[in-house]
Amino acid sequence: MKIAIIGIGYVGLVSAACFATWGHEAVGVDKDTGKIAALRLGRLPIYEPGLDQLIAGAVETGNLSFTTDTATAVAAADIVMIAVGTPPRLRDGEADLAFVYAAAKEIAASITGLTVVVTKSTVPVGTGDEIERIIGRARPDARFAVASNPEFLREGCAVADFQKPDRVVLGADDRRAQELLQAVYEPLRRVGVPIVTTRRRTAELIKYAANAFLAVKISYINEMADLCESVGADVREVALGMGLDHRIGAGCLNAGPGYGGSCFPKDTLALLRTSQDHGVPLRIIQESIVANDARKRRMALKVIDALGGDADGRSVAILGLTFKPETDDMREAPSIPLIEALQRAGLKIRAHDPQGMENARALLDDVEFFDDAYECASGADGVVLMTDWACLKSLDLERLSRVVRKPTLIDFRHAFDPAEVRKHGFALTSIGVAPDTQIKTTIRPHSPVLHALRHSPVMESN
Ligand code: UDX
Repeated sequence: MKIAIIGIGYVGLVSAACFATWGHEAVGVDKDTGKIAALRLGRLPIYEPGLDQLIAGAVETGNLSFTTDTATAVAAADIVMIAVGTPPRLRDGEADLAFVYAAAKEIAASITGLTVVVTKSTVPVGTGDEIERIIGRARPDARFAVASNPEFLREGCAVADFQKPDRVVLGADDRRAQELLQAVYEPLRRVGVPIVTTRRRTAELIKYAANAFLAVKISYINEMADLCESVGADVREVALGMGLDHRIGAGCLNAGPGYGGSCFPKDTLALLRTSQDHGVPLRIIQESIVANDARKRRMALKVIDALGGDADGRSVAILGLTFKPETDDMREAPSIPLIEALQRAGLKIRAHDPQGMENARALLDDVEFFDDAYECASGADGVVLMTDWACLKSLDLERLSRVVRKPTLIDFRHAFDPAEVRKHGFALTSIGVAPDTQIKTTIRPHSPVLHALRHSPVMESN
């Protein structure tokens, strides 16, 4: 199958490389001449483990190529996939579809023969209809169908997610489009990956519904973490006890400083806008967005508390800046609001990240960056583990304790063994696990306080 992929970001690049390794002829198309020139030299625009070897191998077989020439790539393709960005619009948070529609117009100009145009970007319900209108208006003679094939890959393990997905979703109202797409994914069907075939609008909604559900799940465990700190429970054990119930599942139950990245914050907001447009309230998602935003800012208070409440003039070392490990992506990273809030409180920020410092530099002012984690921690009044990179989780605590000015460790990712941390003289603050001394409320079952709480207006309204 000849596949042209328009937009060589995370999704486009990984999809093109993987399709090529399955034997399809994939062409990655992007307007960015610098990006295409670099890719032709084997240089990737993003950091993603395993992707460079995959691309090198696929280019060598002749199945993968890169071009800036949309017209030629589209004219030759059986399937054209749109994988351009859909960033949130500044004014209302809705997904900005300008790039998607511009791609549709360009595709329309060059279609030859029967072509299936597929959205891989995360697009609001009904976007496929608009793409169909754009192409149909521009080229009433064209033989084409529009389908939706949303991608569920996670940064950092995108290649594995593409090659071994939990499921593939193919949404098309046209039978030929459905058949063509099924042929593309035949290698996965053969090894037992479920292929969910639906109408186009349903496929568009599945992507948002899945991402928003995972975001809600994270907000849920984060709120449980707060409760754990107050009642003296351990959120890791709560998550384990919950996640072993197969109806719940263990994924997305790691309490942390709030979710970030290019998807969850954007997709929850976009889904909320869609629901408002249709007059259908999605209160759970709305609350989850509010809780997550507030949480990211609140984490600064945790750091200041751990420093004894005195921030002015002190310095803190932030280890890990990206929104998750194994990526250089800083989009919506919880480290950004945390650092800004700590700076407002008067703290000096020292920072280190294994891959994200170049992107972080463009977003953060007045931060001293260090290539080495120990150097970063040197002389600091506290160390904050923000992103659980493997190399940060395996830091030598003995060495760390020798370089810091004050042995205070704030572990936002349960990266370290608390006993080890304390053995090396650190005072430890983490998420969802309060030392006995920090338990704020001790309410006995059947106590009058509990009775009063249960009969508060909030509880009664539930
Ligand atoms: C996500 C989805 O997982 C993927 O299916 C989708 O298509 C793209 O968006 P990604 O943003 O790459 O992938 O990362 P993910 O691993 O899902 O993490 C997102 C954020 O949630 C990160 O900030 C992460 O730290 C946080 N998170 C995740 C938690 O706080 N706890 C968890 O248990 C899981």
